[in-house]
Amino acid sequence: MSSVRRVLVTTLATLTFVTLLITPSSPGAQAGAQASAQAPRTVQDGVYSDAQASRGQTLYAQRCTGCHGPALAGASAPALTGDLFTNKFRMEPLSALFIQIRYAMPPKAEANAQLTSEQAADLVAHVLKSNGFPAGKTDFPPADATNSPIGWPAGRGVGASSAPSPSWYSPTGNLAQLMRGVFFHNSNLIFSIQELEAKDLPPQPPSTRPDGLTTFDWGLMAYTGWPAVENATTALADASALLMLPGTRCENGRAAPITEPDWIKFTDQMISVARRSYRLAQTKDKEALSKFTLDLSNACNACHRVYRDVGGRGGAGNTSARCMHR
Ligand code: HEC
Ligand code: HEC
Repeated sequence: MSSVRRVLVTTLATLTFVTLLITPSSPGAQAGAQASAQAPRTVQDGVYSDAQASRGQTLYAQRCTGCHGPALAGASAPALTGDLFTNKFRMEPLSALFIQIRYAMPPKAEANAQLTSEQAADLVAHVLKSNGFPAGKTDFPPADATNSPIGWPAGRGVGASSAPSPSWYSPTGNLAQLMRGVFFHNSNLIFSIQELEAKDLPPQPPSTRPDGLTTFDWGLMAYTGWPAVENATTALADASALLMLPGTRCENGRAAPITEPDWIKFTDQMISVARRSYRLAQTKDKEALSKFTLDLSNACNACHRVYRDVGGRGGAGNTSARCMHR
């Protein structure tokens, strides 16, 4: 782990020579690209059985209907059918839906009311069936479902082909401010899982500060542990959508290249690794998240290599070529 850590520290602290340390052929990048390389099965290919979906249906009626509605159309909780729902999950492997159900539903369940992996897999089958995805001959296997490579068919669904629409909300700051204000701290908190137990995150302020705690210190104590990691991962995923906001610029004044295919690809990759980090935080698997931080830093670096670390590399260098497609 120490080599991984060195890479990350270099990445984040000095912002120089990062591109030499992490290349697209590093193991983490391959893990991220695995999905497309092996063309894994998708939910279109019959990845659950009818028997499994009916077990899921029975369980759904007992445990889920109250909040998500009898027809999965939503009630106090969001709908589990339709374009909004599938578009939300299709950027992640099917394992994300499994994790969401297995570890987060019903919300705040007592230990004795938590779902088993078998039950969660049955519910995944019911949700897939309700969304019109075909049944196959075998069950969606609960064993190792958190790592299942099954995906969704390509495409973004609604609005897939249209360019980002002009927004009512234009950005206040430039990309450097967004990166320093949101990306930097949140990813550092996630990277810290390599060194600390989740319960010790974020690192607490020393209790011996002469003038007592600052408001900032107090804030560090308010949200801690795995929920703090979940907050950082979701913040990173959702703030990444701002990378596509029309009107976004680099500090040098150049418009962010939001219509360039590689910028879109880097943004998609960023969102998908941030979401995967979220899923791993939901499972509370320190080792798995720790390993995955390499994919996270690779996603930062892939974009930086092309759009940031050009000309004079690093913050102090010549930044005039940033945000420029080449
Ligand atoms: C007490 C109410 C409640 C019950 C019972 C419940 N859920 Fe949920 N569920 C929620 C809420 C609230 C959310 C939204 C959470 C959020 O956005 O963080 C949610 C989110 C979800 C999501 C993610 C939806 C999305 O758009 O991100 C899935 C999938 C899900 N629930 C499945 C289930 C299943 C399956 C069951 C039955 C085992 C279940 N839920 C039981 C309240 C409930
Ligand atoms: C889609 C492209 C993209 C992604 C993904 C991305 N960045 Fe950036 N980042 C940039 C660009 C472009 C700049 C330069 C911004 C400017 O000059 O205004 C930048 C600048 C930065 C800076 C400020 C550097 C300086 O010179 O002050 C930090 C810190 C940073 N990024 C961290 C991150 C981290 C951490 C991640 C991943 C969690 C990340 N970035 C992901 C494009 C990206």
